Formats: sequence, C-alpha cells, structure tokens
Amino acid sequence: MIDTPIPYDIVKEKIKESGLPNIGKASIREVKRLINEIEKASGQKFVRMEMGIPGLPAVQVGVDAQIEALKNGVAAIYPDIEGIPELKSEMARFCKNFLDIDVPASSCVPTVGSMQAGFAVFMTFKHLHKEKDTTLFIDPGFPVQKQQHRIMGAKYETFDVYEYRGEKLRDKLESYLKKGNIHSIVYSNPNNPSWICFTENELRIIADLANKYDVVVIEDLAYFGMDFRKNISTPGQAPYQSTVAKYTDNYVLFISSSKAFSYAGERLAVMVISDKLFKGHFPNLKENFGTDSLGHAIVYGSVYALTSGTAHSAQYAMAAILKACNDGTYNFIEVIKEYERKAHEMKQMFTDNGFEVVYDKDEDNLLADGFYFTIGYPGFTGDELLEELLYYGISAISLSITGSQRQGLRACVSLVNRNQFPDLKVRLEKFKENHKH
Ligand SMILES: Cc1ncc(COP(=O)(O)O)c(C=O)c1O
Repeated sequence: MIDTPIPYDIVKEKIKESGLPNIGKASIREVKRLINEIEKASGQKFVRMEMGIPGLPAVQVGVDAQIEALKNGVAAIYPDIEGIPELKSEMARFCKNFLDIDVPASSCVPTVGSMQAGFAVFMTFKHLHKEKDTTLFIDPGFPVQKQQHRIMGAKYETFDVYEYRGEKLRDKLESYLKKGNIHSIVYSNPNNPSWICFTENELRIIADLANKYDVVVIEDLAYFGMDFRKNISTPGQAPYQSTVAKYTDNYVLFISSSKAFSYAGERLAVMVISDKLFKGHFPNLKENFGTDSLGHAIVYGSVYALTSGTAHSAQYAMAAILKACNDGTYNFIEVIKEYERKAHEMKQMFTDNGFEVVYDKDEDNLLADGFYFTIGYPGFTGDELLEELLYYGISAISLSITGSQRQGLRACVSLVNRNQFPDLKVRLEKFKENHKH
C-alpha cells in the first residue's frame, strides 16, 4: 500500500462506495459529496478546489439595503418583471463606468442569477430565426449552460479554443458561422474554467463575424473585473473590463452579483441586451411568444414564464452595490483581488512540484491570476489526476466535463483558506515524491 496523506484504503473504499464509474466524469456536486464522505471517514480536511463558491463575505452595502427593503415590506409584493428602476438605472451607469458602453436602463433586466439569464436567453434564441437553430459555445465552458440546452432540446456545437487563439480564431469561427445554422456564440470572459481572457484583437474578431453573419454574442461576465492584469476599479476611467460590446451591437451580457460582489446566495444577475437587439423585431418569435419584439419576448415571455421576475429585496441589494461602485465609494476590485494573491501562491506550489499550467497564455501574455487556474501532471489524464489527488487530500474538477480537449484539472482558489497552504505544500511534495518521472 502506498503512503499517502489520506489513508489509501479509506479513499479507495469511499470511491468504490460512491458507485461513480469514473470520478473525472462526475458532476461538481457529485465530487463534492464524495469528498465530504472521505473527510468524514478519515477525519482529515481536504484542500477543496472543486466548487466555484465565493470565499469572501457578501458586500455589506448590499446586505444593509436588502434588510432595509425587507423592513419596508417588499417581501409581500411581486417585483416588476422588468426589474426595479433603481437597479436598471444603476446597471446602465455601471456599464458606462466599467465597460465604457452606452445602454439604456430599459435593456438591463435582472434575472435569478446568470443561470436564469442563460436559460431565458437560450429559450428565446431557439425561436429567433427559422433557419438558425444552434448555439455555438467557445469552449472550455460552464457545463450547466450545455445542460440547459439538453434539458430544453436545444441544439449546440462547440470547440476548444486552445488551438485557435489570436488570428486563428477567425477561420475557426467562420467555419461554423458560414454553415448558416448558428444564432449565437457563447463564452465567459474571464473564462471558467481555463481563466483565459480574450484579447481586444480576439474580441474584435468575434464581433466582426457576429456582424457579418448576423449572430448574437452572449458574453458571460461572471468574473467581472477579475483579469487583474489591468485595474478597472476607477469608475469612468480607462482601463475598462474588456467586452465584445465595444465592437458590435449584437450582444447580450450577463453581469452576475455572485462572484464580483460575493452575493451568490441571493441569486441575482442582470442581463444587458444591446439597444438594437432589445428593440429588434424577429418575425419567427411570433409563433411562440405572441410578439416579434426580442426585448418583449425575453422579459414578458421567457423571464415571466420561468420565475415572474427576480426576488424583490435582492434587487435593492444589487442596486445599492452598483450605486456604491458607480459613486466610487466602494472599490469592489480591491476586495476580490485576494483571489489573485491566492492563485499566485497556489499555482507556484503546484508548479514547484512538477505540475504544469494547462491553459497558460493569452496570445503572448501569461494568464492572469484569479478565481481559477488549470493544472496537469505528466503521464496523467485529467480524470486520472483527479482521482489520484484524492489520496493526497486535494480536490478539483476534471477539464473533461467542460468541453476542453486538454488533459488536466480546474482548481478554484476561493474556498482554500490560507491556513491550509502549509498542508497543500506538504501534500504536493508527497505527490511528487510518489510520482517521480
Ligand atoms: C461562467 C459562469 N456563468 C454563470 C455562472 C452562474 O452565475 P450565477 O451565480 O449568477 O447564476 C457561473 C458560476 O459559477 C459561471 O462560472
């Protein structure tokens, strides 16, 4: 039996009991449950890097505003489906201040997290055109968005962007778009799981092709501001969060409160639809939505049918947070920068012990340090590495469930406490000792 930080036989037994045929293919929640079992049986705490939960307290101005709203009685009242005016106008200001784009308040629509924004948009876009019935994912990506497609029987295609950075992205994207079946392109930026960030050149390529082929770009900004290589924290001053919206008016942005404001529990995001699209008319929508107006179809068709709007008090929370960011009284970047510092130190521990960063560059630049990073180990597939690391008290998810063609794992820094760093170091050293190559 090999000497491992978590007793070998306990881990083996718990993996067997879990009934999971391949740990690497398990969902994030399944991995979480297995680790809980191993922790209970071994009495040892894992370095948990599998789930992307914020590791910081919720922004206080939001909590205060939400409590105040509840005290004022909003819990009893259905919120307006379009969202409360304060939130809509602060989001329009936020877009100007931190993205340098102009959007009217009317096309900023709150949703129950970006998760619902995705569902509502995919549900609507499925009916946008007769001839275009497919979403194109620029992978790797957030697995649930594909699950949403499968649940509603919507078609999608995908490719791993690793080999198609820079100018190569143009031909690759065009090879899909010229077939004429794609209605929208989806990606997150910074990217979950790989933490790549598209360069301005790549965003321009995506926008040019979206304009040429009349497809919508759905840009998921779940990790707003977290490309810490540039500090976007001053409202109304460059640099800004990079966005495709600078280069096309065929866009929908998802701006979530979950990670930037550590407000995941209240499930609130805002989808920002370009004015042109929001006011746009698409005859094919009429059959399913009773209207050909895209803005109306999304809000009064999809969002209404799904949840009749978004929790009232949480909207006051996000309105207050955005106002504080816009007024310059709250610097959200300073707070979440802790993820950058942790990623920097953790990545170093992995690479010191023979691991390599799988997605490592944005064109010529090294990747930013942030919420996630990717790691591989020579001789291991991602699925094998995930299972092997369990014996060392380290958990992550395999890139294989994210549409990535690369072998490796996604590690999330948020839940790892700094007081676990010494443990992580010792465990990785042990891993290296047991896997000399
Ligand atoms: C890329 C991406 N999109 C969307 C979400 C979900 O965001 P929300 O909490 O706003 O539903 C996540 C959460 O991990 C994510 O990583």
